[in-house]
Amino acid sequence: MILVTGGCGFIGSAFVLGWLQDRDEPVLNLDLLTYAGHPGNLQAVSGDPRYLFVRGDIGDQQLVERLLAEHRPRAIVNFAAESHVDRSISGPLAFAQTNVVGTLKLLEAVNAYWRALPAPAQADFRFLHVSTDEVFGSLAADAPAFSESHRYEPNSPYSASKAASDHFVRAWHHTFGLPTLTTNCSNNYGPRQFPEKLIPLIIHNALRGKPLPVYGDGRQVRDWLHVDDHCLALRAVLATGRPGESYNIGGRSERANLDVVHAICGALDRLRPRPGGAPHAELVTHVKDRPGHDRRYAIDDGKIAGELGWQPRVGFEEGIRGTVQWYLDNQAWVESVTSGSYRDWVSQQYTGLATAA
Ligand code: NAD
Ligand code: TYD
Repeated sequence: MILVTGGCGFIGSAFVLGWLQDRDEPVLNLDLLTYAGHPGNLQAVSGDPRYLFVRGDIGDQQLVERLLAEHRPRAIVNFAAESHVDRSISGPLAFAQTNVVGTLKLLEAVNAYWRALPAPAQADFRFLHVSTDEVFGSLAADAPAFSESHRYEPNSPYSASKAASDHFVRAWHHTFGLPTLTTNCSNNYGPRQFPEKLIPLIIHNALRGKPLPVYGDGRQVRDWLHVDDHCLALRAVLATGRPGESYNIGGRSERANLDVVHAICGALDRLRPRPGGAPHAELVTHVKDRPGHDRRYAIDDGKIAGELGWQPRVGFEEGIRGTVQWYLDNQAWVESVTSGSYRDWVSQQYTGLATAA
């Protein structure tokens, strides 16, 4: 079996669902169920004997040691993290706690387990750490995309904490020989993304006739990848990636934020026109910029494409249409995750930004 951490979040749940759809190998999911974790994301497999769920912290070393001894996984895929940049600005300590200390404690527990495995199982074991392109910092408009050897220059508390965790993973390979793999992926989108991130937030607000907050001039560029493509890339890395290596993963879809917002508005105009027919784009509101806002991320995927034969399948426009449709079809899910604490976050984050724009 494999152990997945953070499997109740956006990418982890897509990974578990895709895995169990295509393979017989069981999955143990360790998730703390923070505000970002929703067991309902995995409702489709909740009765499946190949799926096991344990609520707990990756930083709880005793618990992880017990789970490893009991279930003896052949691989670990570490998704568990605090993942939202804006929250890392207003509350950075949780990011240090989970992303840095949590990953470190997970590595300690996994390393002890791995060292005690018989030699063939040791050789086959993998620890896959799921990270972000944000560790590389910001690119100028005409600079070449991030390769794996790009210098780490994290600019936000989130990216700093992910960078630190990547360094610990690297060190556990070099110092202890743990067969690690690290992936640095660009911005994901797709079903079940919590509506604090740009794409689901814009869909959520647009459907309610609320302002669509665009930070600063909206010309910041991200590379966008459909979550299912990311999960296929992770499976390729897990299967044939070389231990000790890192792989950049991207969607070959660089877009300015304003263009992303307009693409969503266009899809909504077709799929769910507003009463009276006014365009959703009328709701776009430029608000005060995010502090330290990185201007551009872009991925050079030559290594994963050349070595592992992976490339993205879902085009951005097609992916956005499908994602908007998923949110239209799953408003009950949206209602279930946008509880009191979500409303508190939105009010804390966005009140005052519009007037200060
Ligand atoms: P998410 O916020 O949707 O989910 C995180 C999950 O981790 C939640 O289920 C949460 O309950 C769980 N979790 C948090 N702290 C935990 C802890 N201490 N112990 C156990 N579980 C814990 O995040 P996501 O968007 O699915 O991202 C998953 C991973 O992928 C993260 O490591 C993130 O840095 C990375 N990543 C995300 C993106 C993106 O665009 N979302 C892009 C590249 C990389
Ligand atoms: P986000 O989804 O938070 O991902 P990340 O910061 O990890 O790239 O944001 C994507 C881009 O959208 C980023 O440049 C910030 C911008 N953004 C807005 O303009 N308005 C918003 O309300 C949010 C949440 C993000």
